[in-house]
Amino acid sequence: MKYLKLSNILLTSVIVISVALVSCQKFGSDAVSIATGSTGNDIELLRTVLEEYTTETGQAVEITSMPSSTTDIFGQFKIWLNAKTSEIDIYQVDVIWAPQIGNHLVDLTEAVSDVSGDHFSSIIESQTSNGRLVALPFFTDAPALYYRTDLLDKYNENVPETWDEMALIAEYIMDEEHAAGNTELWGFVFQGNSYEGLTCDALEWVKSHGGGQIIEPDGSISINNPDAVRAIEFAADLVGTISPPGVTTYQEEEARGIWQTGNAVFMRNWPYAYGLGNSDDSAVKGKFDVAPLPSGGAGSAATLGGWNLAVSKYSEKQEAAIDVVKYLASKKVQKFMAINNSKLPTLPELYSDPEVLKAVPFFAEWLDVFKQAVPRPSAPTKTAYNEVSKEFWTAVHNVLTGSSSAKDSLANLERKLTDIKESESGW
Ligand code: GLC
Repeated sequence: MKYLKLSNILLTSVIVISVALVSCQKFGSDAVSIATGSTGNDIELLRTVLEEYTTETGQAVEITSMPSSTTDIFGQFKIWLNAKTSEIDIYQVDVIWAPQIGNHLVDLTEAVSDVSGDHFSSIIESQTSNGRLVALPFFTDAPALYYRTDLLDKYNENVPETWDEMALIAEYIMDEEHAAGNTELWGFVFQGNSYEGLTCDALEWVKSHGGGQIIEPDGSISINNPDAVRAIEFAADLVGTISPPGVTTYQEEEARGIWQTGNAVFMRNWPYAYGLGNSDDSAVKGKFDVAPLPSGGAGSAATLGGWNLAVSKYSEKQEAAIDVVKYLASKKVQKFMAINNSKLPTLPELYSDPEVLKAVPFFAEWLDVFKQAVPRPSAPTKTAYNEVSKEFWTAVHNVLTGSSSAKDSLANLERKLTDIKESESGW
């Protein structure tokens, strides 16, 4: 009931899921609570490691399951944090959020000083806001081009290195397969919905075409340029040709759904889809591999993602919560998540761990992809990032759905971003 005072539709739906989860657990009222997204089998595996933690320590931990979309999660977390709720002790936070919600989170610098040096320093830096370490890394993310080895072999095609090659191969294989009766097959699926995921995909198109990073590290607005226009035009041409018309509503899980039922030649997605794609109930088990995303002429570009663990300043169980965070970020749990959920560890040593590499062979190669991944402009835009990203994904979505030309949309976006920059909430 306490929650319902904060009510909105999203909140209500989150709580319903949460109660359902809690009711099937044996946790007592002094349980530490963690709120976390629910992509793929994230919740199931988190529950497995937390049950082990409870057995080892006697400390109960309760999971509040959030939606899969990072945009939805962010909206809800902001409501809870602004309301200073003590109901959630630990928040699983996206890599882009530290400057925006850092002041609601506990400074972990001291408490984790014995382990923070074990993680990639770039991630620790990204989670440091105003000199305060506000989250401990859980896993990092850098996307891949998933491709069907069986189909490329059948049609004697190589793994594409450019977006144009990818589109040509996809179209050719689609046409041949359709003619042979495999009419459900699409060429390429990605995240085209109007949300943060589209910012990630579109940043890759723009950067790999030489069109910059939307807003550069020095804070200048660069998005309105001919290479960026070309990149977005390229993506708009995919919709309804080699990508389903419905791709403009897809997030990660919808793309994976098409892919995992065997109905796409290529997919852009994060590493989590690798393990799931090789599960027993997957139609593409053993029939795919991954490669770096194609280039648009200026090299391959992968957006940097990832999730971290933060303790709420409003938690009444901060000490217990920090202990849970340290356990989840530990080598033991990260190794389990790498092997069972193909999550990229934030501990460098796990990239040469034989058991990890046996389960996810591409991780050896992915270390470089992660190290060169392009950050979204969350550091230069500080507290304005969400607003900036929303304007960007909306501008791109308008082009993908045909309601605006790329040229007009990016010119309009530049005006909006300039207004935000010059406003009070600007950077
Ligand atoms: C993945 C990334 C995250 C990103 C999100 C976008 O979960 O790890 O950083 O914001 O995808 O959908």
